[in-house]
Amino acid sequence: MKIFIDTADTAELKKAFDTGLVDGCTTNPSLIAKAGRDFKEVIAEICKMTDGPVSAEVASTDYETMLKEGRVLADIAQNVVVKLPLTWDGLKTCSDLTADNIKTNVTLCFTAQQAWLAAKAGATYISPFIGRLDDLGMDGMELIAEIRALYDAHGYETEVLAASIRSAAHVKDCAIVGADVATIPPSVFNKLLYHPLTANGLDAFEKDWASTGQSIL
Ligand code: E4P
Repeated sequence: MKIFIDTADTAELKKAFDTGLVDGCTTNPSLIAKAGRDFKEVIAEICKMTDGPVSAEVASTDYETMLKEGRVLADIAQNVVVKLPLTWDGLKTCSDLTADNIKTNVTLCFTAQQAWLAAKAGATYISPFIGRLDDLGMDGMELIAEIRALYDAHGYETEVLAASIRSAAHVKDCAIVGADVATIPPSVFNKLLYHPLTANGLDAFEKDWASTGQSIL
């Protein structure tokens, strides 16, 4: 499963890319507002940090304007993925951008039938939101499993990009049910590695090694 980082904070992103384990980045209008920077500048900066896919979301909701915005965003760098909402206009825009060989990420997906329509529109990625479903007492992970089964049954190549991830357990479960990508907030990415027994065990090994007075080099 590929790892994308869900942020427009370039300092956090740099730390994550430095691990060598991150494959791309996703942003959304809320993350851009939180970063407090010029949208196109941030996307250009992120695209220089990685050759991997960088999702940049359109701001309009009507077909004609989304198509224009999508083309502007795609011109920023070759690795921009245009993010579009799961509406009829969004799907129509997705079909047109796909026909122009522009990569797309259809976002705000909450049902398998929505994901099916996005695949029919040729989306490169579908973004089902796990955490926001869990918040309503529903099962976000079940949605990931349903989309996986639907896409596999019909041979759709759209990649399942699990979004709205809130915990390390979400990430692990996404990998188990077969998501192609998980887009992870930096705070959750940092937690993926941590286990107290790893940290305590390493402390003990360091102390015991020092007590031997030896050196490997
Ligand atoms: C996906 O691309 C979205 O940017 C994101 O995962 C939404 O997460 P949230 O529900 O925590 O806002």
